[in-house]
Amino acid sequence: MRTSDKILVIGSSGQIGTELVQNLREIYGIDNVVASDVKITDQAKEGPFEVIDVMNAQGILEIVKRHKINQVYLLAALLSATAEKMPKFAWDLNMQGLFNVLDLAKEKIVEKIYWPSSIAVFGPNTPSENTPQFTIMEPSTVYGISKQAGERWCEYYFKKFGVDVRSLRYPGLIGWKSAPGGGTTDYAVHIFHEALISGSYECFLSENTTLPMMYMPDAIKATIGIMQADSDKVKIRSSYNLSGFSFSPKEIALEIKKYVPNFSISYKPDSRQQIANSWPKSIDSIEASKDWGWKPDYDLISMTSDMIKNLKK
Ligand code: SER
Repeated sequence: MRTSDKILVIGSSGQIGTELVQNLREIYGIDNVVASDVKITDQAKEGPFEVIDVMNAQGILEIVKRHKINQVYLLAALLSATAEKMPKFAWDLNMQGLFNVLDLAKEKIVEKIYWPSSIAVFGPNTPSENTPQFTIMEPSTVYGISKQAGERWCEYYFKKFGVDVRSLRYPGLIGWKSAPGGGTTDYAVHIFHEALISGSYECFLSENTTLPMMYMPDAIKATIGIMQADSDKVKIRSSYNLSGFSFSPKEIALEIKKYVPNFSISYKPDSRQQIANSWPKSIDSIEASKDWGWKPDYDLISMTSDMIKNLKK
């Protein structure tokens, strides 16, 4: 970290951005972290905020210059379930947004970029247990295809133009501060709210659908960790596998029952089941551990206890 660091977070009011901005501001100072989203939100009351559409390259350039930004975190994207409903728009948004930011670094206007990838880059032919970093990747969702293509472009810009881009393949993310939007793993957040509000939850995935997940504090730690790592330690410039823990709806329901004894869950799988079926069950993140010291703090038990404690407040 340098005192001259000025950060722009694009898509800052979403599930990850909400928490990331708070954490970055604690580290870099409120005025050195500019939040931005496609429309104004309450975040604008907390510090510098810009309204910007990630498709607007000229607008992003103008903001970057005005705030003397040197690092960009690009979080604006359409997630897996929403992308299936509007494939062309999702492809355009997810790809053009990435190019707009990669090109800023190619032109040396910014120094460093963070862009998230996802477990959605894997597909039905990928080994699903302890999925390795380098393996068969045949994503079968629009979202996964855009993330895989994005990974290839990140590595290309690094090799060809020396662009310092860093990326993580997030699993499903669980947090209490913000709501998820349009993903297949969203149930793992909704289930907590429903357990505490109504004592029951109808899950859109079947009971034994195991997916890789992570508690938000770990996701933020990994994100800031890879961005602060020395450049030579970041050896993978497509995107790193990142593991937290894995569970099925049935398993998390049992854990929640420890705090809400009468909690009941029912299952009504919808189109998201097919997406979940194509994704890994667990992830091997040995490369992230080796290269820049990745280690998660939370497991299913400690995450559940922390979620319940905070949501009850
Ligand atoms: N949580 C995301 C989704 O479900 C995966 O990256 O779409």
